[in-house]
Amino acid sequence: MGTDKNSKPMNDTLGMPNKPVIIRKCTEEDLDGVMQVNLNELPEDYPYFFYKSLLDNFGDAFLVACDQEGKVVGYIMWRVEKVPSVDEFKIYKKGHLVSIAVSKDYRRLGIATTLLTMSMKEIKKYGIDEYVLEVRVSNTPAISLYKKFNFSIHSIKYAYYRDGENAYYMIRKAD
Ligand SMILES: CC(C)(COP(=O)(O)OP(=O)(O)OC[C@H]1O[C@@H](n2cnc3c(N)ncnc32)[C@H](O)[C@@H]1OP(=O)(O)O)[C@@H](O)C(=O)NCCC(=O)NCCS
Repeated sequence: MGTDKNSKPMNDTLGMPNKPVIIRKCTEEDLDGVMQVNLNELPEDYPYFFYKSLLDNFGDAFLVACDQEGKVVGYIMWRVEKVPSVDEFKIYKKGHLVSIAVSKDYRRLGIATTLLTMSMKEIKKYGIDEYVLEVRVSNTPAISLYKKFNFSIHSIKYAYYRDGENAYYMIRKAD
């Protein structure tokens, strides 16, 4: 696990020489680990078939961070949405960040930064016009992360989450 040509060993400059992590494409065998990280780190959970369908359809942009034993400690997954334009004869394609999470013991080490950097390049290959995402208005770490990647707040989606919290809808043009 983690030694194929798509693996990207992360180096010591990330400040974790004792916790080496590699970032690589997700495989079907990783999905249980991805679901576990999701369960531990986020209130939103999804059924197995949802993860599997993202892997089947947009697998190039579905990445995992794994520790030395191959355990999943982070992931990122995207989908592409096609939206008809109101004022042009064009179908817009949006790269929608479905979910990203990093296990608590591995945070602030640049893992989310690397997951985003690598997966945004991959999802762009689907010919998207923009990157979009929702984030809880209270999620300061994630909002700060997205702003670093030049996402800006486009609007608020009221009571977007099951517990009633609002979401910021954030957008970045795919340049
Ligand atoms: C948000 C999350 C993915 C960041 O992962 P990470 O690997 O720790 O992030 P990085 O180390 O790459 O940090 C990149 C930037 O994110 C922001 N950030 C990350 N953690 C932060 C924190 N606790 N407080 C404020 N900003 C934070 C900073 O801008 C940081 O840049 P800096 O280190 O130069 O200040 C992680 O905190 C997480 O998994 N949270 C729970 C799941 C979640 O909220 N997902 C997003 C759902 S929309």
